[in-house]
Amino acid sequence: MTFYESVKGGQGEILPMEIITAVRGFKDILPPETEKWRHVEETARKVFGAFGFHEIRIPLLEKTELFCRGIGETTDIVEKEMYTFLDRGEESLTLRPEATASVIRAYLEHAVHAAETVTRLFTIGPMFRRERPQKGRYRQFHQIDAEILGPDDPRTDAELILMLIHFLDRLGLAKLNLEINSLGCLECRPAFREAVISFLGSQAEELCGDCRRRLGTNPLRVFDCKVEKCGEIISRAPRLNSFICGDCRTHFEGVQEGLRLFGVPYRLNDQMVRGLDYYTRTTFEVTAEHLGAQNAVVGGGRYDHLVRDLGGPDIPGIGFAIGFERLISMIPESGEDAPQGPLLFIAALGEKAAERAFILGNRLRMNGVHVEMDYAGRSLKSQMKKADRLRCAYALILGEREIQDNKALLRNMRESAQEEVCLDDLENTIMTLAR
Ligand code: HAM
Repeated sequence: MTFYESVKGGQGEILPMEIITAVRGFKDILPPETEKWRHVEETARKVFGAFGFHEIRIPLLEKTELFCRGIGETTDIVEKEMYTFLDRGEESLTLRPEATASVIRAYLEHAVHAAETVTRLFTIGPMFRRERPQKGRYRQFHQIDAEILGPDDPRTDAELILMLIHFLDRLGLAKLNLEINSLGCLECRPAFREAVISFLGSQAEELCGDCRRRLGTNPLRVFDCKVEKCGEIISRAPRLNSFICGDCRTHFEGVQEGLRLFGVPYRLNDQMVRGLDYYTRTTFEVTAEHLGAQNAVVGGGRYDHLVRDLGGPDIPGIGFAIGFERLISMIPESGEDAPQGPLLFIAALGEKAAERAFILGNRLRMNGVHVEMDYAGRSLKSQMKKADRLRCAYALILGEREIQDNKALLRNMRESAQEEVCLDDLENTIMTLAR
């Protein structure tokens, strides 16, 4: 029995087929929302371009090992959230859950580091994490990701954060909080880790099951736990601040000095560890209170050993990723942001007029003018209604009589004024309006 037959009713009657919906946690982005997305992308390209960034496009699918090594085997992302499958039973592949590891893979594979000492790249696209979907959290979501490879001076960190804040400003986003922290380096973090293990070990019974397990695998992840009791215990845990070495402290002060020079407001958050294992020194997040539980709009930080861990030379790096959906949800719906309507609607009445409209409308479109028309032979009233609904600047009324008289009525929809125009000049007349 075919699928089609299986949905037939008992007496040979055909039942309507059920529509196929999108996969849970994967969502469509429809117009006019897509206009907003384009506006954000264009703003990112402009702002990032001025700061010397170039776009890189990377595949959605990578070898699973890239993320295990890059993000860390014992992070939530790698342990629980990746879409991983065996390709024809041979090779384990994963839909990328983030972009940083892929950007570095491409950077190493194409030996970009051999050609230049500083590389600034950005990429925009979908990421995949099998988290529990809720408002602001999807299984396919999009990031605007920026990475700087090469320099390790604090000015670079401050500059990257400054670019981010400037970008958010350009989009008119207010009421955002920037939080920064330093996670120290390979020199000073082990002592901190030991202190955390010993403190948490003494409270192990009170921790949730996940955190008890993390204690043995990745104790700093306990700082990320959302369980209330664990949060309360963590608030009493040792702070990296008391362990950080002189070099890391000077570096972090340099970052803050850079931010102060530009009057960028920030808050120190010494509990922020971030959910990926590759970070060293500076980490930061931008949050928006009104977004609710999923309030992190941007996450980023320095990763001075990731390039080496992925098989390359010891090249430091820093970057961030903006959650596109969360960013878009904060952009105000103002009249200014609303996309502009078409320049012209051609209301054609009758077969001859429709043919003329078909030729004129498509010629104008090929010259870059946004023209709308419809061939359904509707009444003038309903065509004008449609022109209005589409917010067209002008409507051209073309009937059989007008064609006979070699003229048409051009109506300025915003000023509700109309004039007769000669059909021979029509294309030029409209092209002049488009300029
Ligand atoms: P992340 O903090 O995992 O960092 O993600 C960055 C941002 O992506 C989050 O702040 C959030 O806005 C958005 N995001 C993450 N998961 C979801 C989801 N399930 N649904 C919707 N939005 C989400 C990274 O990915 C690092 N690669 C950032 C980075 C770049 N660090 C250095 N360079």
